[in-house]
Amino acid sequence: MSNVNTGTPGTAVVTGASAGIGKVYADRLAARGYDLLLLARRADRLQAIGADLRSRYPVRVESLAADLATPGGLALAVQKLTADPSIAVLVNNAGASRVGSLAQTTSEQLSAMVALNVTALSTLTLAVLSGFQERDSGTIINIGSMVGFAPTAFVPIYGPTKAYILNFTQVLQQQLADTGIRVQLVAPSATVSEGWDVAGYSLSNLDPAIVMSTEDCVDAALRGLDMGELITLPSLQDDSLLRNFETASGALFEAAFLTGQPAARYGLSR
Ligand SMILES: NC(=O)c1ccc[n+]([C@@H]2O[C@H](COP(=O)([O-])OP(=O)(O)OC[C@H]3O[C@@H](n4cnc5c(N)ncnc54)[C@H](OP(=O)(O)O)[C@@H]3O)[C@@H](O)[C@H]2O)c1
Repeated sequence: MSNVNTGTPGTAVVTGASAGIGKVYADRLAARGYDLLLLARRADRLQAIGADLRSRYPVRVESLAADLATPGGLALAVQKLTADPSIAVLVNNAGASRVGSLAQTTSEQLSAMVALNVTALSTLTLAVLSGFQERDSGTIINIGSMVGFAPTAFVPIYGPTKAYILNFTQVLQQQLADTGIRVQLVAPSATVSEGWDVAGYSLSNLDPAIVMSTEDCVDAALRGLDMGELITLPSLQDDSLLRNFETASGALFEAAFLTGQPAARYGLSR
Protein backbone atom coordinates (compact mmCIF):
# COMPACT_ATOMS: atom_id res chain seq x y z
CA MET A 1 0.00 0.00 0.00
CA SER A 2 1.43 3.42 -0.83
CA ASN A 3 1.67 6.30 1.56
CA VAL A 4 -1.06 8.84 0.80
CA ASN A 5 1.24 11.80 1.35
CA THR A 6 4.30 10.76 -0.61
CA GLY A 7 3.13 8.11 -3.11
CA THR A 8 5.91 5.82 -1.84
CA PRO A 9 5.27 2.53 -0.05
CA GLY A 10 6.27 4.32 3.15
CA THR A 11 9.22 3.95 5.49
CA ALA A 12 10.90 0.70 6.41
CA VAL A 13 12.69 0.59 9.75
CA VAL A 14 15.60 -1.85 9.87
CA THR A 15 17.31 -2.49 13.17
CA GLY A 16 20.86 -3.77 13.01
CA ALA A 17 21.26 -2.22 9.57
CA SER A 18 24.98 -1.48 9.92
CA ALA A 19 26.07 -5.01 8.97
CA GLY A 20 25.11 -8.48 7.84
CA ILE A 21 21.50 -9.44 7.28
CA GLY A 22 20.13 -6.00 8.26
CA LYS A 23 22.36 -4.24 5.75
CA VAL A 24 21.03 -6.46 2.96
CA TYR A 25 17.42 -5.89 4.10
CA ALA A 26 18.08 -2.14 3.85
CA ASP A 27 19.31 -2.55 0.29
CA ARG A 28 16.43 -4.78 -0.80
CA LEU A 29 13.76 -2.58 0.78
CA ALA A 30 15.27 0.53 -0.83
CA ALA A 31 15.13 -1.35 -4.15
CA ARG A 32 11.41 -1.89 -3.48
CA GLY A 33 10.99 1.87 -3.09
CA TYR A 34 10.79 2.20 0.69
CA ASP A 35 12.28 5.18 2.45
CA LEU A 36 14.47 3.90 5.25
CA LEU A 37 15.15 4.47 8.90
CA LEU A 38 18.32 2.56 9.79
CA LEU A 39 19.15 1.74 13.41
CA ALA A 40 22.32 0.38 15.00
CA ARG A 41 25.03 1.64 17.35
CA ARG A 42 27.74 2.53 14.79
CA ALA A 43 26.74 5.92 13.39
CA ASP A 44 29.63 6.06 10.90
CA ARG A 45 28.58 2.80 9.28
CA LEU A 46 24.93 3.83 9.13
CA GLN A 47 25.88 7.10 7.47
CA ALA A 48 28.08 5.37 4.88
CA ILE A 49 25.36 2.81 4.12
CA GLY A 50 22.76 5.58 3.88
CA ALA A 51 24.92 7.58 1.44
CA ASP A 52 25.46 4.49 -0.70
CA LEU A 53 21.74 3.65 -0.78
CA ARG A 54 20.76 7.24 -1.63
CA SER A 55 23.24 7.18 -4.51
CA ARG A 56 21.63 4.03 -5.96
CA TYR A 57 17.93 4.39 -5.18
CA PRO A 58 15.51 7.37 -5.26
CA VAL A 59 14.62 7.02 -1.57
CA ARG A 60 15.12 8.95 1.64
CA VAL A 61 17.41 7.33 4.18
CA GLU A 62 17.63 8.45 7.78
CA SER A 63 19.70 6.83 10.47
CA LEU A 64 19.50 6.68 14.22
CA ALA A 65 22.50 5.56 16.24
CA ALA A 66 21.17 3.92 19.38
CA ASP A 67 22.15 1.06 21.64
CA LEU A 68 18.88 -0.87 21.73
CA ALA A 69 20.12 -2.99 24.63
CA THR A 70 20.01 0.04 26.93
CA PRO A 71 16.84 1.68 28.29
CA GLY A 72 17.99 5.09 26.99
CA GLY A 73 18.77 3.88 23.48
CA LEU A 74 15.56 1.91 23.27
CA ALA A 75 13.51 4.89 24.50
CA LEU A 76 15.08 7.03 21.75
CA ALA A 77 14.07 4.49 19.12
CA VAL A 78 10.56 4.09 20.53
CA GLN A 79 10.08 7.87 20.48
CA LYS A 80 11.14 7.97 16.83
CA LEU A 81 8.93 5.04 15.78
CA THR A 82 5.79 6.18 17.57
CA ALA A 83 6.08 9.68 16.11
CA ASP A 84 6.36 8.62 12.47
CA PRO A 85 3.09 7.70 10.70
CA SER A 86 4.96 6.91 7.47
CA ILE A 87 6.36 3.68 8.93
CA ALA A 88 5.02 0.73 6.95
CA VAL A 89 7.59 -1.96 7.70
CA LEU A 90 9.56 -2.88 10.80
CA VAL A 91 12.40 -5.36 10.42
CA ASN A 92 13.36 -6.42 13.94
CA ASN A 93 16.76 -7.73 12.94
CA ALA A 94 19.30 -6.49 15.52
CA GLY A 95 20.41 -9.43 17.61
CA ALA A 96 23.42 -10.65 19.51
CA SER A 97 24.71 -14.10 20.29
CA ARG A 98 27.39 -15.67 22.45
CA VAL A 99 28.85 -19.10 21.94
CA GLY A 100 29.93 -20.96 25.07
CA SER A 101 28.66 -22.90 28.03
CA LEU A 102 26.22 -21.46 30.54
CA ALA A 103 28.91 -21.58 33.22
CA GLN A 104 31.08 -19.30 31.09
CA THR A 105 28.26 -16.80 30.52
CA THR A 106 28.38 -13.69 32.68
CA SER A 107 25.22 -12.05 33.99
CA GLU A 108 26.11 -8.96 31.93
CA GLN A 109 26.20 -11.03 28.74
CA LEU A 110 22.91 -12.70 29.66
CA SER A 111 21.22 -9.34 30.35
CA ALA A 112 22.56 -7.79 27.15
CA MET A 113 21.25 -10.65 24.98
CA VAL A 114 17.82 -10.61 26.63
CA ALA A 115 17.67 -6.80 26.43
CA LEU A 116 18.38 -6.77 22.70
CA ASN A 117 16.89 -10.02 21.41
CA VAL A 118 13.78 -10.04 23.62
CA THR A 119 13.03 -6.64 25.17
CA ALA A 120 14.04 -4.38 22.29
CA LEU A 121 12.35 -6.56 19.65
CA SER A 122 9.10 -6.70 21.62
CA THR A 123 9.16 -3.03 22.62
CA LEU A 124 9.76 -1.82 19.06
CA THR A 125 6.92 -4.06 17.89
CA LEU A 126 4.60 -2.42 20.41
CA ALA A 127 5.87 0.98 19.30
CA VAL A 128 4.62 0.51 15.72
CA LEU A 129 1.58 -1.60 16.54
CA SER A 130 -0.97 1.07 17.43
CA GLY A 131 -0.16 3.08 14.27
CA PHE A 132 -0.40 -0.08 12.17
CA GLN A 133 -3.74 -0.92 13.78
CA GLU A 134 -5.10 2.59 13.15
CA ARG A 135 -4.13 2.31 9.49
CA ASP A 136 -4.95 -1.43 9.32
CA SER A 137 -1.74 -2.00 7.43
CA GLY A 138 1.92 -2.60 8.04
CA THR A 139 4.47 -5.39 8.04
CA ILE A 140 6.53 -6.69 10.94
CA ILE A 141 9.43 -9.00 10.17
CA ASN A 142 11.02 -10.61 13.21
CA ILE A 143 14.37 -12.25 12.71
CA GLY A 144 14.52 -15.36 14.84
CA SER A 145 16.77 -18.33 14.20
CA MET A 146 16.70 -22.07 13.56
CA VAL A 147 17.97 -22.49 17.12
CA GLY A 148 14.63 -21.08 18.32
CA PHE A 149 13.04 -24.37 17.19
CA ALA A 150 15.37 -26.81 18.96
CA PRO A 151 17.48 -26.42 22.13
CA THR A 152 21.11 -25.98 21.10
CA ALA A 153 23.74 -26.21 23.85
CA PHE A 154 26.18 -24.31 21.64
CA VAL A 155 24.25 -21.05 22.26
CA PRO A 156 22.58 -21.55 25.67
CA ILE A 157 21.06 -18.06 26.09
CA TYR A 158 20.80 -16.92 22.48
CA GLY A 159 18.74 -20.01 21.52
CA PRO A 160 16.10 -19.43 24.21
CA THR A 161 15.82 -15.76 23.23
CA LYS A 162 15.08 -16.92 19.68
CA ALA A 163 12.48 -19.39 21.00
CA TYR A 164 10.83 -16.37 22.64
CA ILE A 165 10.80 -14.59 19.26
CA LEU A 166 9.11 -17.61 17.64
CA ASN A 167 6.40 -17.73 20.32
CA PHE A 168 5.98 -13.92 20.44
CA THR A 169 5.64 -13.73 16.66
CA GLN A 170 3.07 -16.51 16.58
CA VAL A 171 1.03 -14.75 19.29
CA LEU A 172 1.13 -11.55 17.22
CA GLN A 173 0.02 -13.52 14.17
CA GLN A 174 -2.92 -14.96 16.11
CA GLN A 175 -3.98 -11.56 17.42
CA LEU A 176 -3.62 -9.81 14.05
CA ALA A 177 -5.01 -12.60 11.88
CA ASP A 178 -8.10 -10.67 10.79
CA THR A 179 -6.32 -7.40 10.08
CA GLY A 180 -4.34 -5.95 7.21
CA ILE A 181 -1.12 -6.23 9.25
CA ARG A 182 1.33 -8.91 8.22
CA VAL A 183 3.77 -10.52 10.62
CA GLN A 184 6.54 -12.84 9.47
CA LEU A 185 9.08 -14.83 11.42
CA VAL A 186 12.34 -15.40 9.56
CA ALA A 187 14.50 -18.14 11.01
CA PRO A 188 17.87 -18.29 9.27
CA SER A 189 20.37 -21.08 9.75
CA ALA A 190 24.10 -20.35 9.54
CA THR A 191 24.51 -17.25 7.38
CA VAL A 192 27.59 -15.23 6.51
CA SER A 193 27.96 -12.25 8.87
CA GLU A 194 30.33 -10.67 11.34
CA GLY A 195 27.86 -11.74 14.06
CA TRP A 196 29.76 -15.02 14.37
CA ASP A 197 32.96 -13.25 15.40
CA VAL A 198 30.96 -11.04 17.77
CA ALA A 199 29.55 -14.26 19.29
CA GLY A 200 33.06 -15.60 19.80
CA TYR A 201 33.10 -18.27 17.10
CA SER A 202 34.80 -18.13 13.73
CA LEU A 203 32.56 -18.97 10.81
CA SER A 204 35.57 -20.66 9.22
CA ASN A 205 35.01 -23.54 11.69
CA LEU A 206 31.81 -24.47 9.84
CA ASP A 207 31.61 -26.47 6.65
CA PRO A 208 31.04 -23.77 3.98
CA ALA A 209 28.45 -26.08 2.42
CA ILE A 210 26.05 -25.39 5.34
CA VAL A 211 26.54 -21.62 5.37
CA MET A 212 24.19 -19.42 3.34
CA SER A 213 25.19 -16.12 1.77
CA THR A 214 23.68 -13.04 3.42
CA GLU A 215 22.04 -12.04 0.13
CA ASP A 216 20.43 -15.47 -0.40
CA CYS A 217 19.09 -15.42 3.16
CA VAL A 218 17.36 -12.05 2.75
CA ASP A 219 16.18 -12.67 -0.82
CA ALA A 220 14.61 -16.00 0.18
CA ALA A 221 13.03 -14.40 3.25
CA LEU A 222 11.50 -11.60 1.18
CA ARG A 223 10.27 -14.12 -1.37
CA GLY A 224 8.66 -16.00 1.54
CA LEU A 225 7.00 -12.77 2.65
CA ASP A 226 5.68 -12.16 -0.86
CA MET A 227 4.32 -15.72 -0.89
CA GLY A 228 2.42 -15.03 2.33
CA GLU A 229 4.50 -17.31 4.55
CA LEU A 230 4.09 -16.69 8.26
CA ILE A 231 7.29 -18.52 9.10
CA THR A 232 10.18 -18.57 6.67
CA LEU A 233 13.16 -20.84 7.09
CA PRO A 234 15.31 -19.80 4.15
CA SER A 235 17.31 -23.04 4.08
CA LEU A 236 14.50 -25.54 4.76
CA GLN A 237 14.05 -27.62 1.61
CA ASP A 238 11.14 -29.80 2.80
CA ASP A 239 8.55 -27.40 4.19
CA SER A 240 6.27 -30.26 5.26
CA LEU A 241 8.64 -30.55 8.26
CA LEU A 242 7.53 -27.10 9.39
CA ARG A 243 3.86 -27.99 8.96
CA ASN A 244 4.43 -31.19 10.97
CA PHE A 245 6.12 -29.14 13.70
CA GLU A 246 3.18 -26.74 13.88
CA THR A 247 0.64 -29.59 13.87
CA ALA A 248 2.49 -31.44 16.64
CA SER A 249 2.82 -28.29 18.73
CA GLY A 250 -0.92 -27.53 18.40
CA ALA A 251 -1.87 -31.13 19.21
CA LEU A 252 0.40 -31.17 22.28
CA PHE A 253 -1.14 -27.92 23.54
CA GLU A 254 -4.70 -29.18 23.14
CA ALA A 255 -3.99 -32.59 24.64
CA ALA A 256 -2.38 -31.12 27.75
CA PHE A 257 -4.66 -28.10 28.13
CA LEU A 258 -8.04 -29.74 27.76
CA THR A 259 -7.83 -32.01 30.78
CA GLY A 260 -7.43 -31.21 34.45
CA GLN A 261 -6.53 -34.81 35.33
CA PRO A 262 -3.01 -36.12 36.10
CA ALA A 263 -1.90 -38.39 33.28
CA ALA A 264 -2.54 -42.11 33.88
CA ARG A 265 1.21 -42.87 33.83
CA TYR A 266 1.61 -41.08 37.20
CA GLY A 267 -0.67 -43.64 38.87
CA LEU A 268 -2.65 -41.05 40.82
CA SER A 269 -6.17 -42.25 39.94
CA ARG A 270 -8.40 -41.81 43.00
N1 LIG B 1 24.29 -14.92 10.78
C1 LIG B 1 23.65 -16.02 11.17
O1 LIG B 1 24.15 -17.14 11.01
C2 LIG B 1 22.29 -15.91 11.79
C3 LIG B 1 21.54 -17.09 11.93
C4 LIG B 1 20.29 -17.01 12.52
C5 LIG B 1 19.79 -15.79 12.94
N2 LIG B 1 20.55 -14.65 12.79
C6 LIG B 1 19.99 -13.39 13.27
O2 LIG B 1 20.07 -12.42 12.25
C7 LIG B 1 20.08 -11.12 12.84
C8 LIG B 1 21.21 -10.31 12.22
O3 LIG B 1 22.43 -10.91 12.59
P1 LIG B 1 23.72 -10.91 11.66
O4 LIG B 1 24.15 -12.32 11.55
O5 LIG B 1 23.48 -10.13 10.43
O6 LIG B 1 24.75 -10.22 12.66
P2 LIG B 1 25.69 -8.95 12.53
O7 LIG B 1 26.33 -8.90 11.22
O8 LIG B 1 26.53 -9.00 13.77
O9 LIG B 1 24.65 -7.75 12.65
C9 LIG B 1 24.05 -7.42 13.86
C10 LIG B 1 23.47 -6.03 13.72
O10 LIG B 1 22.84 -5.68 14.96
C11 LIG B 1 23.39 -4.46 15.41
N3 LIG B 1 23.42 -4.45 16.86
C12 LIG B 1 24.09 -5.32 17.67
N4 LIG B 1 23.92 -4.96 18.95
C13 LIG B 1 23.13 -3.86 18.95
C14 LIG B 1 22.62 -3.03 19.96
N5 LIG B 1 22.88 -3.25 21.27
N6 LIG B 1 21.84 -1.98 19.62
C15 LIG B 1 21.57 -1.73 18.30
N7 LIG B 1 22.03 -2.49 17.31
C16 LIG B 1 22.80 -3.54 17.62
C17 LIG B 1 24.79 -4.40 14.81
O11 LIG B 1 25.23 -3.06 14.64
P3 LIG B 1 26.13 -2.22 15.65
O12 LIG B 1 27.23 -3.11 16.10
O13 LIG B 1 26.57 -1.07 14.80
O14 LIG B 1 25.22 -1.80 16.76
C18 LIG B 1 24.54 -5.00 13.45
O15 LIG B 1 24.03 -4.02 12.58
C19 LIG B 1 20.24 -11.35 14.35
O16 LIG B 1 18.99 -11.24 14.98
C20 LIG B 1 20.74 -12.77 14.43
O17 LIG B 1 20.40 -13.39 15.66
C21 LIG B 1 21.78 -14.69 12.22
